[in-house]
Amino acid sequence: MLDHDLKPSAIVAYLDQYVIGQEDAKKIVAVAVYSHYRQIARLRAAGVPIVKTNILLVGSSGTGKTLLCETLARGLGVPFVTAEATSLAQTRYVNEEIDGVLQRLVDRADGDIAKAQNGIIFIDEIDKLKTVGAQARGTSGESVQHALLKMMEGASVKFGRGEFLDTTNVLFICGGAFVGLDEIMTQTHGYGFITTTMDESQRILDRLNTRIKPTDLFTFGLIPEFTGRLPVIARFQDLSRDALVRIMTEPKNSIYGQFREIFKSEGVELVVERRVFEQLAELAIEYKTGARSLRGLFEELLTPILYVVPDSRDIERVTYSSLFNDPTITRRTPTP
Ligand SMILES: Nc1ncnc2c1ncn2[C@@H]1O[C@H](COP(=O)(O)OP(=O)(O)OP(=O)(O)O)[C@@H](O)[C@H]1O
Ligand SMILES: [Mg+2]
Repeated sequence: MLDHDLKPSAIVAYLDQYVIGQEDAKKIVAVAVYSHYRQIARLRAAGVPIVKTNILLVGSSGTGKTLLCETLARGLGVPFVTAEATSLAQTRYVNEEIDGVLQRLVDRADGDIAKAQNGIIFIDEIDKLKTVGAQARGTSGESVQHALLKMMEGASVKFGRGEFLDTTNVLFICGGAFVGLDEIMTQTHGYGFITTTMDESQRILDRLNTRIKPTDLFTFGLIPEFTGRLPVIARFQDLSRDALVRIMTEPKNSIYGQFREIFKSEGVELVVERRVFEQLAELAIEYKTGARSLRGLFEELLTPILYVVPDSRDIERVTYSSLFNDPTITRRTPTP
């Protein structure tokens, strides 16, 4: 737990144990969380109005946005809930849905409102709320954005049976894939000045041009008031083959680690060579679902062996060296 050591570097070190890559996003989130929980208390003591540092995470599906939020909340030991923006938009009663989200946050805090007021609310698929003409059913994305504004800014919000929850200290993290944002950015990012050296100017240009501006989000379809409440924007990169291999093998609760334990409990050593993880990663890239399909692919690979292992007590080790070959099975020599 990070409870008493909230320094950004400590937050990143904790996240590193579970979330692979996404170094920029981790740092941005860590700094925002630090200012959120630490500085807010100080500013409030000084009577300075609080500026909330809600965060927007932009990145393709399966790149770790939800995972990062969950891990963060667990590390901080604060209650955490996820809400899907799409399901907020599918109902005619947005405020009731929001009410339900706050109720779940309080439930996660075991009914302790003070604790819930320091929690994290993750609103996923925020990009689906973009403004597009009138919608046939449910509530339009734009009115959902309006409905969320007050709560995100920090207000005393009524929920349940007349109880109030002050959202001033609730950290809101919004996430979305924002398909099409890159095209918007290439159209609007026209920085082309020259500084002292070509090298340096290229670096500055790269930085400015990969930075998402509030106006880009506006062009995409988020209303200005809404983007204004998301001052911190972190980008998630698409996962490379190498990152996918690391995801299967490195985190504390990695897929490989989990299955090695399962085999161990059957008295069998499981060995999967790097080549196999690379092949699985290539399939996952093909599927375009980020890291999401890795577990399914890995399970599929092991199923035939998991089927026979309980019946064959003499199996000592199972070694996979390629997706396209059967594994090598080493058997114990029977004791005479
Ligand atoms: N960077 C990462 N490090 C470790 N595991 C990851 C990473 N990214 C994704 N995963 C794995 O893939 C699963 C799906 O990731 P996650 O739910 O965080 O995706 P997401 O970015 O929220 O996608 P979506 O936009 O579809 O909601 C996670 O449960 C985790 O197992
Ligand atoms: Mg998600």
